[in-house]
Amino acid sequence: MKPVPLLDLKAQFAPLREEIRDAIDRIVDSQRFILGQVVEDLEADVCRYTGSPHAVGCASGTDALILALAGLGVGDGDEVVTSPFSFFSTASCAYKVGARPVFADIDPQTFNLDPESVATKIGPKTRALIPVHLFGQCADMDAVAGLARDRSLPVVEDAAQALGAAWSSAESGHAGTIGDLGCYSFFPTKNLGAFGDAGMIVARDAEVAERLMQLRVHGGRQMYEHKWVGWNSRLDALQAAVLRVKLPRLDSWSAGRKANAERYDLWFAESGLIESGDVKTPWRDERSSHIYNQYTLRVTRRDALREHLAKREIGHSVYYPVPLHLQPCFGELGYSAGDFPNAEAAAQEVVSLPIYPELDESMQRRVVDALVEFYRPLAGR
Ligand SMILES: Cc1ncc(COP(=O)(O)O)c(C=O)c1O
Repeated sequence: MKPVPLLDLKAQFAPLREEIRDAIDRIVDSQRFILGQVVEDLEADVCRYTGSPHAVGCASGTDALILALAGLGVGDGDEVVTSPFSFFSTASCAYKVGARPVFADIDPQTFNLDPESVATKIGPKTRALIPVHLFGQCADMDAVAGLARDRSLPVVEDAAQALGAAWSSAESGHAGTIGDLGCYSFFPTKNLGAFGDAGMIVARDAEVAERLMQLRVHGGRQMYEHKWVGWNSRLDALQAAVLRVKLPRLDSWSAGRKANAERYDLWFAESGLIESGDVKTPWRDERSSHIYNQYTLRVTRRDALREHLAKREIGHSVYYPVPLHLQPCFGELGYSAGDFPNAEAAAQEVVSLPIYPELDESMQRRVVDALVEFYRPLAGR
């Protein structure tokens, strides 16, 4: 039987081949590779798409987070409250500007920050909150924005996995545009993926956006004039050209992922594995749309299941096996096992399945059948 990959970027590329090659050819013919008109055009496209007034392209989602904190003036001795159940950059960005990440636990249903836990972690040194919209579903932005307002703190949204998701409640808007700054990643596996590393920050405030424009180019607008000690974190014209071809397709790709998620939900419900307690399908917060960058289950006997899936060549992955507060590089922060029980339990129990829009029903059926085959001897215990 054919393997089912976790993601198939070749299937996405095939129908776009000519258009993307033409876009790349235009950049190659121009011999202008760094920033320039095509990057400005992409920034304008993202502003139109998200409704944000300002956008600043940069070299990666990681750099977007670092630049965002630096742009807000977060630095030495400051604290940034964020989630321990996320990709590394969510916390490393604080370190990189001289601040400390302070973790709060997650909500076990959404995997996103638990606002009650956040409230207990905000202290006199806190300078920003970083909610993460994990797997493509927004964190509770009503609660986060409320906490930020009460304490006059800026919010930097880690929307690396969530471009295209939206929050509709007391606060509302596209993921990334509800807080002060929003950070996107265009890493190839994201719903909108470049042909290499790329990222972007959206900003509410013109002055902050201008500072970010400077910080991404060594801290100045004019060559050889440096107002700040900035970075080299420019967005390549080639990446911007590829992303401009892909952006108009983003919503239909995300809709394809959602349709696949609904089919998994239904088939897992029919399988008996939810009833037996072996599988929990993703919980949906009705206030957020979900773009399913990942379709993430909680399962029993996760590591044995992974071996079974690997034998059947069913692509899957664990995002994330070690919570950030237990990473060796953050040892000096003094956290230990047991500090964030919800994040730690999630790290033990989650597994993400193939969800990309080109996945067909027969492949999805094989994925579900493989889980049923694994648990069946125990189902109905
Ligand atoms: C939640 C989250 N934050 C930040 C990043 C960093 O983005 P990049 O890989 O583009 O540096 C990622 C990407 O993997 C991510 O998933």
